[in-house]
Amino acid sequence: MSIRSADSVLSLETIDKTYDGASKPALDRVSFSVAPGEFFSILGPSGSGKTTILRIIAGFETPDRGRVVMGGTMVNDTPPFRRDVRTVFQSYALFPHLTVRDNVAYPLRMQGEAKGPRRAKAEAALALVEMSPYAERLPHQLSGGQRQRVALARAVVSRPKILLLDEPLGALDLRLRQQMQHTLVQLQKELGIAFVYVTHDQGEALSMSNRVAVMRDGRIAQLATPREIYFEPRSEFVSQFVGRSNLVPIRFEPAGSDFVAVIEGTRLPAITSDRPGPARMALRFESVRISPRNGVAGPSSALPGIVEDILFLGTNCEVAVRCGELSLIGSIPAERDTTLAVGQPVHVDFDLTSTQVFRD
Ligand SMILES: Nc1ncnc2c1ncn2[C@@H]1O[C@H](COP(=O)(O)OP(=O)(O)OP(=O)(O)O)[C@@H](O)[C@H]1O
Ligand SMILES: [Mg+2]
Repeated sequence: MSIRSADSVLSLETIDKTYDGASKPALDRVSFSVAPGEFFSILGPSGSGKTTILRIIAGFETPDRGRVVMGGTMVNDTPPFRRDVRTVFQSYALFPHLTVRDNVAYPLRMQGEAKGPRRAKAEAALALVEMSPYAERLPHQLSGGQRQRVALARAVVSRPKILLLDEPLGALDLRLRQQMQHTLVQLQKELGIAFVYVTHDQGEALSMSNRVAVMRDGRIAQLATPREIYFEPRSEFVSQFVGRSNLVPIRFEPAGSDFVAVIEGTRLPAITSDRPGPARMALRFESVRISPRNGVAGPSSALPGIVEDILFLGTNCEVAVRCGELSLIGSIPAERDTTLAVGQPVHVDFDLTSTQVFRD
């Protein structure tokens, strides 16, 4: 899906940004458009430029080059408070001396709304994040997850066209993060406003977004739907950053008029190329199948191996298998009585339907 600037609520057009005194650019020709009501995520490792993008959208930083366009108008010179944008940060930044309700109503007070409608809108925003019963409390009387809900309510109370979220779940424990992912998706649907969501957590980005931009060193490495990013990573970087996979050295060797992949001496007829030579194959943990050898011969494209270790992860087990020079990790469903044990001889074969091959 590609979105034309004209149909978008927000477009970044070839944005460059180098901070004063920095030796390399924080952003290098970054372009993307966000559709009205889209959940757009920016995913990338620390220092890849995610926060810089949000600060440029919000108007806290100016790009060296390029245009920021909102609703068809260039806003490069528009100050932050005139942009139809709100931001939610990792730390909730609530006013400690104001009640939950007054915190949420605060942006409306700044806009000069009268007390009655202010209160009604604050109540409605609190209801959206299921925090109505806490309206009279002070922030220090809330848990971290509850505070983040209040911060969300405050950010959406004036119904901005665009909500920016910078690692908003980073300070929460795993369970709360998962709950909040559902809250965010529901909230976004209900409000119909565009979310630009920054995270270094691939699970968050994949689960919630319509599209994901994967950042590397100030550039967009790939911009696509979560499924495309997951099943068709365009580079080794994306394949290693998104999901869990083995990166396995292979060789293409002649087979008839074609060249076929060989992994540790075993041919994989399903993977072919038009030229010989070395390459690397990304094999997701769930695409590695492991079966006990039990003295029987495996399929011709299976590798013999020995189980090195097993991690029990609840719904599944990650099993490391040594196959000659290779160590491969496979993910198998966890059963009450596992059938695999460390040291056991096994066959390893592969579901090659979504395998990516990378060459230099
Ligand atoms: N105010 C600043 N002055 C100089 N350099 C900066 C400034 N802010 C960020 N940088 C640099 O710009 C690059 C991108 O930073 P940015 O904060 O956008 O990364 P990020 O992807 O948000 O990282 P994280 O996941 O750690 O928050 C980094 O190399 C960082 O050191
Ligand atoms: Mg950041």
